[in-house]
Amino acid sequence: MNRVYIKTYGCQMNERDSEAVAAKLRARGYSLVDNEFDADVVLLNTCSVRDQAEQKAIGKTGYLGKRKRTNPDFIIGIMGCMAQNRGTELVDKLPDLDLLVGTQKFHAIPDHLDNIIATQNGLGPKPSTIVDLDEEEGSQNTIREHLSDSRQVCAFVSIMQGCNMNCAFCIVPKTRGNERCRPIEEIVDEVEELAARGTKEITLLGQIVNSYGRREIPFRNKKSPFVQLLEKVQEVKGIERIRFTSPHPRGFKEDLVEAYRDLSKLCEYVHLPAQSGSNRMLKLMNRPYSRERYLEIVDSLRTVVPGMYFSTDIIVGFPGETDAEFEQTCDLFQEVSFDMAYIFKYSIRTGTPAAEMGDQIPQEVKEARNHRLLGYLRDSSLSRNESMVGSTQEVLIEGKAKRGELYVGKTRGYRNCLVSASDRLIGELVQMKVNRATQSSLYGDLVLSGVDELNKPAPTLSNSLL
Ligand code: SAH
Ligand code: F3S
Repeated sequence: MNRVYIKTYGCQMNERDSEAVAAKLRARGYSLVDNEFDADVVLLNTCSVRDQAEQKAIGKTGYLGKRKRTNPDFIIGIMGCMAQNRGTELVDKLPDLDLLVGTQKFHAIPDHLDNIIATQNGLGPKPSTIVDLDEEEGSQNTIREHLSDSRQVCAFVSIMQGCNMNCAFCIVPKTRGNERCRPIEEIVDEVEELAARGTKEITLLGQIVNSYGRREIPFRNKKSPFVQLLEKVQEVKGIERIRFTSPHPRGFKEDLVEAYRDLSKLCEYVHLPAQSGSNRMLKLMNRPYSRERYLEIVDSLRTVVPGMYFSTDIIVGFPGETDAEFEQTCDLFQEVSFDMAYIFKYSIRTGTPAAEMGDQIPQEVKEARNHRLLGYLRDSSLSRNESMVGSTQEVLIEGKAKRGELYVGKTRGYRNCLVSASDRLIGELVQMKVNRATQSSLYGDLVLSGVDELNKPAPTLSNSLL
C-alpha cells in the first residue's frame, strides 16, 4: 500500500520539487517506483505555464481514475502549479481525486498520504478530497531533501521561490506566489552535503535567480547577493561545475558578467529568456528591457567569454504581434545565433493581463512562426556542434545512455555527448575528442590522459632535476 509513483510535468523547478517530495516520502517509509502500474499512489506534479500542460495532467487524472473501479484504495493526487492555479475547481471536475496540494505545501504530502491510508484501513471516516493550497511562510526553506541512496552527478538546488515580475502572459506569480529566498548559508550547506555524496555539478534554480536576496542581503564590494552566492558555491570542494536558471535580462549587471570571467566553475552557458525581439512586444509583455539592452548583455558576455553558449525562451504569437514584429524576433534570434532555445506558442492564461488584450493571433500563424524559429535553431545548433568536430572537450559523464552501449555526458557548454566509457567513469570529468556531430549531440572517443606523456621523450637528467 505504500508504493508511490510521481509524474512530473514542466520545468526543472518541478523536477526538483518532485525529487524533494520523493525524498520526504521515502524517509516516511514509502517506496518510490518508476512505473505508474506498480504504484498504489500516483502523484502528478503539474505545470500551468501553458494550457496544453494543464490539459495533459487533467486527461491523465481521468485515465488513472479508471483504476479505482477495480481498486478503490488506489490514491490519486495532483500537486504543484495547476493545483494552485485551478484550486477546488479541479475537485469538482475530477471526482476521483484524493489529494490536491499547492506549491507551498509539498512538505505536507507525507502527512496527507498517511491520513488517507489510515482512513482506508478503517481508522476514521473516508475523507473527501484533501485540499491544501494555503500560502506558508518559510516554505522556500522546506525544499532541501535529496534522495540519498543514489549519487546524483548533477543536482538542482532551489535558491528561491516565487516571482514578483508579473510578465503580462505569465501565470507563475499566481501559482508560485511572491518571491522568497533561502539564506546563503543554508544553500551552501545543501551544496556541501551534495558534494560530500559525490555531486559534481550544481544548478541553482529560481524564477529570476539574479534578483536573489535583493531585499534581504546587502551588496558587498559592488557585488549583488546572487554573485555573492555564486562565489560561495565556487568555494565548495568537490563541486566542479556551476550553472543557474534562469536569470532575467533586467538586473543582469556587470558583476554577473564578471563572475563568468572570475569563477572557474561557472560554466560558459547562459539561459537568458528574451521572449521577443520587438520593443513594442516587450513593453506589452511587461518585460522591462529593450532588444538593444538584450544584445548588449550578449555582447558583454561574449567579450568576457568568447565561446559563450546562449539559450533562450521565446514566445511567438503574443497578442497583437505583427509580421514585422515577428521579423524582429527572427533578427535577434539569428544575430545571437542561439545554441539552444525553448520556443513557445502564446497560450492564453486566464487571469493574466495578456488574456484581456484582444487581438489574439490565429493558431496557424503561431504554428508558422514557431516553425520558422525552430528552423533557425536547428541551423545554429548544428553549426555550433559541427564546429566542435576534431576538438577535445571536457565532458562530465552522467551515466549510461538509455539505449545502446554508450555513456552520456555534457560539456561545460551543455552540449549533449555520447561516448564509449565505463561505469567507473560515471561522475568523472573526461576529455573527449569529438568525431561526429548532430543537431542535438556530439559523438566522440575518450582521450586517455597519460598517453601524451608516454609519447614524450623521457626527461633528461638536468630537466628532471629542475
Ligand atoms: N522566470 C521563469 C520563467 C517561467 S515560465 C524562468 O525564466 O525560469 C517559462 C517560459 O514559459 C517563459 O520564459 C515563457 O517563455 C514561457 N511562457 C510563460 N507563459 C506563457 C504563455 N502564457 N504562453 C506561452 N509561453 C509562456
Ligand atoms: Fe513568469 Fe516573468 Fe516571472 S516569465 S516567472 S512572471 S519573470
